[in-house]
Amino acid sequence: MTRASLDKQPHEVASMFDGVAANYDLTNDVLSLGQARLWRKEVAKAVGARPGHTVLDLAAGTATSSLPFAATGAYVVPCDFSLGMLREGKKRHAWLPLTAGDATRLPFKDDVFDTVTISFGLRNVQDTDAALRELYRVTKPGGQVVICEFSQPTWGPFRTVYTEYLMRALPPVARAVSSNPDAYVYLAESIREWPDQPALAGLLQKAGWSKVAWRNLSGGIVALHRGVKTV
Ligand SMILES: C[S@@+](CC[C@H](N)C(=O)[O-])C[C@H]1O[C@@H](n2cnc3c(N)ncnc32)[C@H](O)[C@@H]1O
Repeated sequence: MTRASLDKQPHEVASMFDGVAANYDLTNDVLSLGQARLWRKEVAKAVGARPGHTVLDLAAGTATSSLPFAATGAYVVPCDFSLGMLREGKKRHAWLPLTAGDATRLPFKDDVFDTVTISFGLRNVQDTDAALRELYRVTKPGGQVVICEFSQPTWGPFRTVYTEYLMRALPPVARAVSSNPDAYVYLAESIREWPDQPALAGLLQKAGWSKVAWRNLSGGIVALHRGVKTV
């Protein structure tokens, strides 16, 4: 298995991430031209973790996305269904409670997390609605969700350039830096198919989240969506 197909069969997605685990973080930095670090800082601000808080970082991969929350003293649970990504994470951050789990059937009780968050993961989950409902279930009443995901650049001319960069430049660059360039062809295709900002906000509302809002980063290449579980 080198890449998942766009129907995102869970075993194909997990196996694709198993295959890129060792080089995942480095490739991320290169392909995002360093923007990934900036996006993580914005996610950390939105999550607002602090000591005593419980945070679920779903689809955490190697747990790089969990580190800014853990650094605040919050209790952070990185969860993912790729054992390859989890193993790589465990090698680097043995002190974190890395947990195997599928986004659509989370291995947690109801109402346990102050914040649930998912960075660059929701787009890969086959059943988006089920994952959003599961995130809602495990969040404490009054708690929040923060979703960081690729989205649609808002300025038309930039959107055209970006789509060209994505569709044409990403696969050749990935061939030079990645152990599995096909995974990055999947990345480009899955971004193109993903709901835009208002459409994702609608999915959050449908799953029960209230006060849904979003903020664009890097002109809308990435969007941060938020929602609250009201009592
Ligand atoms: C692009 S990586 C993101 C990793 C990390 N959050 C980050 O920001 O670097 C996407 C992750 O989503 C995970 N994933 C995809 N579908 C999943 C599912 N249904 N349940 C749990 N994890 C899933 C993959 O295994 C992969 O590790």
